[in-house]
Amino acid sequence: MAMIPKETIEEIRARCNVVEVVGTYLPQLRRRGSTFKCNCPFHQEKTPSFTVNETRQIFHCFGCGAGGDVFRFVMEYEKVDFVTAVKILAERASVEIIYEGGRPEKSGDKDALYKIHREAATFYHRLLAEGTEGVEARRYLEERDLPADLLKEFQVGFAPNEWDGLMKRALKKGYTAEQLEAAGLVVPSERSGQKIHYDRFRNRVMFPICDPMGRVIGFSGRIMNQAEKGAKYVNSPETLLFRKNQILFAFDKARKPIVESRQAIVVEGQIDAIRCHQAGLTNVVASQGTALTENHARLIKRYADEVVLVLDADAAGVKAALTSSEIFIAAELSVRVVTLPEKEDPDSLIKKSGAEALITLVKEAPAALDFLIDCLGRQENMATEAGRMRVVKAVLDFISHCPSAARRDPMIHRSADLLHISPQALSQDLRREQRNQRAAPRRADEITTAPAPPKIYPKEEISLLELLVHHYPDVQPLVHDYLPARYLSDSICRELVELLMVELPEALTEGFQDFDDASQKVISRVQVEESRTIDAETEPVELAQRYVLLFWKRQLEREQAALSQRTDLSNEERFRESTRIRHDLHALSKGWSHALPMIEVRLHSEK
Ligand code: CTP
Ligand code: MN
Repeated sequence: MAMIPKETIEEIRARCNVVEVVGTYLPQLRRRGSTFKCNCPFHQEKTPSFTVNETRQIFHCFGCGAGGDVFRFVMEYEKVDFVTAVKILAERASVEIIYEGGRPEKSGDKDALYKIHREAATFYHRLLAEGTEGVEARRYLEERDLPADLLKEFQVGFAPNEWDGLMKRALKKGYTAEQLEAAGLVVPSERSGQKIHYDRFRNRVMFPICDPMGRVIGFSGRIMNQAEKGAKYVNSPETLLFRKNQILFAFDKARKPIVESRQAIVVEGQIDAIRCHQAGLTNVVASQGTALTENHARLIKRYADEVVLVLDADAAGVKAALTSSEIFIAAELSVRVVTLPEKEDPDSLIKKSGAEALITLVKEAPAALDFLIDCLGRQENMATEAGRMRVVKAVLDFISHCPSAARRDPMIHRSADLLHISPQALSQDLRREQRNQRAAPRRADEITTAPAPPKIYPKEEISLLELLVHHYPDVQPLVHDYLPARYLSDSICRELVELLMVELPEALTEGFQDFDDASQKVISRVQVEESRTIDAETEPVELAQRYVLLFWKRQLEREQAALSQRTDLSNEERFRESTRIRHDLHALSKGWSHALPMIEVRLHSEK
């Protein structure tokens, strides 16, 4: 298997400052003393416990235990594997990856599909930009007010009116029909018992769809002449690359503006999204007419705090807006809903009334809850008891999707206000509603996505590691000479202390990848900064001495407790041993200089 050489990984690491990388994902990261802090992206919190240490190039969250180096951060934030994280950062740092052992990695399949898509997009775009075949498409797009530079930016193209326009060129380049079929670009068929293939996209304006990293993974092709038969849009099928339920059109271009504004605006159509970008609204993505899913919500949640849904004003649009709102609220995003003037979409509105019109609608968009209550109020007769109860039930059902009590509370108060009911009564009913929901079996994915509570390590063992890492020259000799690592109770802490007896602390960072996940977390935890529990008045060496004494004390107590079980000793020997332990415990309690001779005797007799 082809591998990324270790030196390349180290070069990428050296060029990707963890503070800068984290900062592009979390712009609220701020310097606090010797480290940087902000609210943790991996769990919900109100006071920042997410900490980044620039000197040690490591991050750690004291709340949820997440931690690691710059690669680990990208892995967790982007939900990708190590190799992908390396690639993302390589791109960022402009480091070329030259693989060891020939062909680039094992997922050759995927790489070929990316390449096919990239080349297909170029092919379609060239036909639109210059070919004679593209005349009609150029005219159509011109009529729709989409200028050439905008088409270039989005790599919009044209699929020729042929059954094998793309296929014959791709075959000539050495691709197989099976590869093109796997890419969804050609469709298999049968003629006189023989398998044949033809182009999926013919005589259409082509919108490339990219993944969040900007790689083309599919297409949406629009008909140019409404009179022609066939669907208005033909889309790529689900492939190894294209997963409709997690892809948002223009997300790659919108990502940075979304991070910067902490807001994502979701429209329906590709042309709507392109129009918004042209008009300067660059945090806009398109759902491409499909239902929004939890995957979409998760994707957005990684970059934004708020979603603004811009959907059609018709009944289907309203229903979609409400369903989507619930999904986003369940992902702990704030949601607001824009209602467009009748018969308008963002494209037509901007063309008719300018970007300002849409910007104002976005600015003034009501919260999803207000939108819901407004819709319900129009559907139901609020003068009747039954009508009011149906509204209350729908509102409670909506609020119950929100997992955070702190977020539910203002929603309850707001609904109580709007519905003229006391907040107390509403919360009581909400609790009942939630009890009923909990009685229903939980879905499998809910169980797997619930974050595991961070593992709790013995505080003193973590502190000792911190002392070793941060005050190595003073503390290491002491621990080395007087504390057998096996006295530590946690296996990970024990192994790390053992390692630090033979290696410098830098070994923890340099060999970071080689540690297992749990060890990586402990390493980042102890490196990121010294705990606030370490008392600033006391010298590190003195503190380390106290810990050495403490671990000795625990060891002797364990031995004392085990004495009664020891059948290898006579009663007299047991008594003598017990007296000796008690005597040594007493020495331990009197401080370092009293305990030292006894420790030396014991260590000596062990040898
Ligand atoms: N769509 C689709 N398949 C269809 C119709 C629509 O995938 N048969 C998706 C497309 O992504 C499209 C979006 O839904 O951009 C919105 O569709 P629609 O409201 O029909 O768009 P229009 O505004 O009518 O189309 P356009 O803006 O392209 O003129
Ligand atoms: Mn439109």
